[in-house]
Amino acid sequence: MSERRFYVTTPIYYVNDEPHIGHAYTTVLADVLARFHRLHGDTTHFLTGTDEHGQKIVEAAAENGHGPREHCDLMAARFRETWRVLQISHDDFIRTTELRHETVVQRILAQLYERGEIYQDTYEGLYCVPDERFWTAKDVVDGNCPDCGRPVVPLSEKNYFFRMSRYQEWLLQHIADNPGFIQPHSRRNEVLGFLKKPLGDLCISRPAARLSWGIPLPFDPEYVTYVWFDALLNYYSAVEGMEAPGLDGWWPATCQLIAKDILTTHAVYWPTMLRAAGLELPTTILAHGWWTHAGRKMSKSLGNVVHPIRMSETYGADGFRFFLMRDMVVGLDSDFSEPALIARINSDLANDLGNCLNRVERMIHAHFADRIPAPSSLDAADEGLAQQARLTIDKVFAAMDEVRIHQAIEETMELVRAVNRYLEVKAPWKAVKDGGPEAIAATLATAAEAIRLAVSLLIPVMPGKCGEALYRLGMIDAPEALVAGPADPAWLRWGGLRPGAPIRPGGPLFPRIETATDTPG
Ligand code: MSP
Repeated sequence: MSERRFYVTTPIYYVNDEPHIGHAYTTVLADVLARFHRLHGDTTHFLTGTDEHGQKIVEAAAENGHGPREHCDLMAARFRETWRVLQISHDDFIRTTELRHETVVQRILAQLYERGEIYQDTYEGLYCVPDERFWTAKDVVDGNCPDCGRPVVPLSEKNYFFRMSRYQEWLLQHIADNPGFIQPHSRRNEVLGFLKKPLGDLCISRPAARLSWGIPLPFDPEYVTYVWFDALLNYYSAVEGMEAPGLDGWWPATCQLIAKDILTTHAVYWPTMLRAAGLELPTTILAHGWWTHAGRKMSKSLGNVVHPIRMSETYGADGFRFFLMRDMVVGLDSDFSEPALIARINSDLANDLGNCLNRVERMIHAHFADRIPAPSSLDAADEGLAQQARLTIDKVFAAMDEVRIHQAIEETMELVRAVNRYLEVKAPWKAVKDGGPEAIAATLATAAEAIRLAVSLLIPVMPGKCGEALYRLGMIDAPEALVAGPADPAWLRWGGLRPGAPIRPGGPLFPRIETATDTPG
């Protein structure tokens, strides 16, 4: 881990929609990274929030019979509640309707205007009202918006423009000089492809007469700020002037997570805006793929939206988080289905991890009065498992550093399966019959330590269940301690369990999920 400072962000979500699996995925991914960096002692800040201005929000509010402010308050609360249920450990939650944000947006706009980075011009084009976006004639498809498919209308109006075109060459150079700026590589290529065409200026205003739910331009109150110009600045406005222990400040962000749908705004508009404002660029913009549901795009109209609170209530927040992180390769698309979620929980968590912990606990309970045994000597198999565990730590760190979360999990699960195989080979339940407890002390101490280490490596993914497991292994005093509290970096090394330390055996950590097909005929 070279970076000792870690500032991670999620997109701020539109409050016209209920929180769904897509929002949950990005936010859990950010949470896993934040928890991992905190566990390494990095000074970490994790920001999420809601995007509350614009036409979409006004319409959603009206549909629900609310004013925009009331609607935003209700929906922001719903996002916060979802993040509570999903055990998200964000340090800050920003709403674009907060004064702290609006003040920064207005100040930056005023500075850019004074410096000639913003000018007024007449815009003529085809306008998609719901998307608040202009299109050219060659973009539109049969008179409809190429994005949302709804009709566009011809519109000519005076507006304000940001001189984005000025920054095209500079941006290309920045991307060339910083290969890690846009990740993964395929998305970087996509942006480079986009930048082959001349970059236009960006319309950053909307007439207040047409849309009043926005931040007024400080130099012309007849206009409000275009929602993207407003929204992108949240990443900076949230931390401006905020204390960062031992650091000059939080800006720039280290890792900005998005999905591929908002790549251009983040990899083109955002860096040029920052450059014009004289602010540093984030280190990395990381675009992950898209979740589909049983092979289909998710949408309200198809009625197949996956609700994270319902999933957490049914299968547990930890199991849901585990599935999201294990079953998507960051950068690629993935498909969600409840049978796949259940299969993953049953095989990896109930069978492999839960059973392993239970086996070890039960034998320590039966033969060592709930105390970690003290081995007198270790054999080659014990040493072998310890060695594999040490290698796992390195592999997990390397994978996490490159945000290959699914691989970090898979390496850890491989260790868990190795512990199970080791137990099969050593068969302490048989050995104890011939040699008594002394004959199995090394086996149980080694297996318990290996499982403790595996659980510790999974803390960022499953803070709730891993806390429970570490409580049972006598490492912490409260089972829920890791959901909101810190974890100890020393747990990520081999040798954390001390002989004689008490354990607290319990029932299955991950009860098997029974489905209709499990029940015999
Ligand atoms: N408000 C803007 C972002 C402004 S950031 C300055 C926005 N909001 S959104 O509510 O539509 O959220 C988009 C983001 O939600 C995606 O970039 C991604 O992080 C997440 N996802 C939404 N649906 C998704 C999937 N089906 N799959 C994966 N992630 C998706 O755009």
